[in-house]
Amino acid sequence: MFSNLKEQPADKILALMQLFKDDPRPTKIDLGVGVYKNAEGVTPVMRAVKAAEKQLWEQETTKSYVALAGDPDFADAMIGLVLGDAVARDTVSAAATPGGTGACRQAFEMVKMANPDVRVFVSNPTWPNHLSILKYLGIPTVEYRYFDAESRGVDFEGMLADLADVKPGDVVLLHGCCHNPTGANLNLTQWQAVVDVLLKTGGVPMIDIAYQGFGDGLEEDAAATRLVASSVPECLIAASCSKNFGVYRERTGILMAVAQDKGLKGLTQGTLNYLNRQNYSFPPDHGARLVTMILNDPALRKEWADELEAVRLSMLGLRQQLADELQRLSGSDRFGFLSQHRGMFSRLGTTPDMVERLRAEHGIYMVGDSRLNIAGLNAQTVPILAKAIVDTGI
Ligand code: LMR
Repeated sequence: MFSNLKEQPADKILALMQLFKDDPRPTKIDLGVGVYKNAEGVTPVMRAVKAAEKQLWEQETTKSYVALAGDPDFADAMIGLVLGDAVARDTVSAAATPGGTGACRQAFEMVKMANPDVRVFVSNPTWPNHLSILKYLGIPTVEYRYFDAESRGVDFEGMLADLADVKPGDVVLLHGCCHNPTGANLNLTQWQAVVDVLLKTGGVPMIDIAYQGFGDGLEEDAAATRLVASSVPECLIAASCSKNFGVYRERTGILMAVAQDKGLKGLTQGTLNYLNRQNYSFPPDHGARLVTMILNDPALRKEWADELEAVRLSMLGLRQQLADELQRLSGSDRFGFLSQHRGMFSRLGTTPDMVERLRAEHGIYMVGDSRLNIAGLNAQTVPILAKAIVDTGI
């Protein structure tokens, strides 16, 4: 039977991780997978997470099952973090999921259950795993223009023009902040225009928010999600705690369904519970519990928010340093976009050949579409990267 299996395509980001591991060069630089690293190249356990883990170790008396949707306190804490008071709590159903990927997967399954003919509009480009999961589930996708290769900003006119083709019952996948892979983002005026298109077309937004706190700040990064959720009749939000709490391997995420018609809440919550049961039954609890403890304890919350803010500012500093160094070495402003982009990633906007040359000749690893993880840099490696970029003729 097993011989009937077909080879599956390797995930490009994860394949790159392995390639980096296998590279013996001591000077190699990893700008691939989206994991935060400090100046020493370490992905630390955040201070508040360590403190919460210690408390949990002392206080937890059972590892028995919690609930199909996870602990309701986790849902309340995360709804508060992401949505603030933008929507009434009783309009939101939610289920804990294994990471943000789990939330995306459940969201796509849910929209297919609601509309077997659903099409999902995706930005060109988007996180490759969005496309992979959608393909796996047999859900057709339609690309909307997003990245302007010339300016390395958003092709906003193209985006609006393409979203005008959305039909009622289609889903529009949006990145709440810190667009992955480009780092190019909409401003709030542009988000309002997207809301207007959604209201006009009847498209249902699905927001993937995996980097809250990595862009302009915790509140600022949630502003677009809150605007959309409070303006449209229905929306889905897939949130990840992997990056902003640094709990990658704990698989901590949540899917929220906002329905302004409160009569639908029983149905949406029941569907989320059902999907969890079918796919993995009870969602992982450990990371979700730590997040809940941190968000609900003022001292831990402050400790966490302060550390997250320091991470955000260090990435902004690296962005500026890289843009300045490239300006100095190339004598041109063409890399200025690096300081405008937000979040962990920027798309350099060069060819796969050039990306391959950076890897082969300089030991610099970035994803083939020229996405680089800013958090993989430090003050010493920024000049090395800048020189390699200019020497390669990018
Ligand atoms: C990334 O985009 O690198 C991260 O979201 C990690 C992943 O799972 O791909």
